Amino acid sequence: MSHESDGTGAQRTGASGASGPGARKRGWTGSAHKGLRERRARGNEASRQRLRAGAVSLSGLYTLNTPSGDAHDRIADGLADHGWAVSPAFLTPAQASTLLAESVSARDRFHPAGVGRAGAHGVRSGTRSDSVCWLGDAHSGPGQAAYLAAMDGLRAYLNQSLYLGLLSYDAHFASYPVGAFYARHLDALHGPGARRTLSCVLYLNPDWTDADGGHLRLYLDGDRQEPFMDVRPEAGTLVTFLSERFEHEVLTSTRERSSVTGWFSGRT
Ligand code: OGA
Ligand code: MN
Repeated sequence: MSHESDGTGAQRTGASGASGPGARKRGWTGSAHKGLRERRARGNEASRQRLRAGAVSLSGLYTLNTPSGDAHDRIADGLADHGWAVSPAFLTPAQASTLLAESVSARDRFHPAGVGRAGAHGVRSGTRSDSVCWLGDAHSGPGQAAYLAAMDGLRAYLNQSLYLGLLSYDAHFASYPVGAFYARHLDALHGPGARRTLSCVLYLNPDWTDADGGHLRLYLDGDRQEPFMDVRPEAGTLVTFLSERFEHEVLTSTRERSSVTGWFSGRT
């Protein structure tokens, strides 16, 4: 396995085809994302025109030089170019630690995570062994409120810049005890109901090292084993990826691993 150093320390890539300079852009920039890239270009022009016309409200000016505007921009570029984005320090350490405390204090409301939808739904410990608590079921707190507001800002930005048509957002805290995992899967649910468009995973674990394991492994080429990218679940890191496109799994870890996993859904 090769380890990529891109300055963020948040990710590493695997397989021969995904190492070396520019590797992250190789192999999955083909026509599959062309539509998004064109929409990105059109979205930029549309927002520039709105800016010139003075039609953007003050709160819409977050795109200009603020840290969150910068983060939004990088995520939109990542989604347009590859279909995924890794954002280290999407939250500050203080914000992540507030969320972690809220997750820990909701532990009595966690339940073993299920797999599948509606009639096929059930707990399958051979597939995943984490426990979850939907944000609405936890005691609300300032960490959750701030995170939901941040995600709504991201939703607005992505709708404006990529025309993604994201409507709703559902999220749960997740806790993976030592040795827990989530086998390779696709997040998009088939069948009736809201269509998951964008998966967003925020990690809450300070000082996580590669030796702790627990990486999110994102498979970058359909159902193939390679290339893949491993993301370290470090506190504050946000991973976003197109739900219908990327299979992924959670590797086992030697520490308890906490996160907030959520999905933006669009029209069915
Ligand atoms: C999920 C999932 C990834 C992670 O909950 O569907 O794939 O890194 N989580 O926690
Ligand atoms: Mn998943």
